[in-house]
Amino acid sequence: NLLLCLPTCLEILNSMPPRLPFGQVRNLLIQGHIIRRMSSQHKVYVTRPDVDDSGLELLRKSCQVSTWHETNPVPRSELIRVVAGKDALYCALTDKVDKEVLDAAGPQLKCVATISVGYDHIDVEECRKRGIRVGFTPDVLTDATAELTLALLLATNRRLFEANKQVYNGGWKSWAPMWMCGQGLKGSRVGLLGFGRIGQEIAARIVPFKPTEITYTTRSLRPKEAAAVNARHVDFDEMLRESDLIVVCCALTPETKEIFNATAFQKMKPNCILINTARGGVVDQKALYEALKTKRILAAGLDVTTPEPLPIDDPLLKLDNVVILPHIGSADIETRKEMSRITARNILAALAGDKMVAEVEL
Ligand code: GLV
Repeated sequence: NLLLCLPTCLEILNSMPPRLPFGQVRNLLIQGHIIRRMSSQHKVYVTRPDVDDSGLELLRKSCQVSTWHETNPVPRSELIRVVAGKDALYCALTDKVDKEVLDAAGPQLKCVATISVGYDHIDVEECRKRGIRVGFTPDVLTDATAELTLALLLATNRRLFEANKQVYNGGWKSWAPMWMCGQGLKGSRVGLLGFGRIGQEIAARIVPFKPTEITYTTRSLRPKEAAAVNARHVDFDEMLRESDLIVVCCALTPETKEIFNATAFQKMKPNCILINTARGGVVDQKALYEALKTKRILAAGLDVTTPEPLPIDDPLLKLDNVVILPHIGSADIETRKEMSRITARNILAALAGDKMVAEVEL
């Protein structure tokens, strides 16, 4: 056995202090050999080559790592082909990990770890049934996402992109008293759909803008967190009827899927602005288009759409009262690097049977 693993033995011998007793040398060699053998059996597939290398380096220390080679998402047929026999799958929100993918992977698959806080692209129920652990990256991206939400909110309610366009297209003739006026946050009623980590940080960033009131809609009350930002719990209907600005910061679940539909838009105030940095699926996009076009609501700021990317001929892109960003909520350099490392650590922990940094409760 030791002879078969000669390079490993030499490496261990080189790193050992001289004059160790023979028994200890033998134990170290065997241990090293076993560790190498065990870990080299762990195969991890990473669906993107462009996640920060610090995460991949962590994995490469003890696993066989293979990655998709292009910066666009791995085609589904390829994922299904290459996932076979892997012990862990490092995926992104662009990869649908469903029964078919899990079947293709095989029964040795121990972990699916996504480099995202959202995990609606993973069939977690199917993972639970198979004893596959699911890792994600909450917390680390909370501030970045809250920050981007505020940027999008201000860009939308103060019409920044629309105004900026005028600078380039000759629309800027002179200063004019009522030109490019938006609707300030001060004195407005802001409703948050969802009041988890990200929602709370968004609320904390809105407070200095002096809104009249912040309300939140969730299944369960969060009195302590709400008190910190002076937010009041309301039901969805009250939020729709009362808010000047609604921010979507909830997970996409069967309950929230297309909750912003034609009926919801009918209930909203005509000056209401909708901001969505959660998931495109929370909004019925056709109904949103109608609501924006007919001025049923004032404007929308979307960091997420259905589908992504949004086709460049999508009717939404023809409207002036919508700001669309390409899903960059957590796109802060340090945040994305740390997300890469957390995803790797989640995998290493799951493979070792240890506690993950962040595990989805199944
Ligand atoms: C981004 O949308 C994420 O879920 O991390």
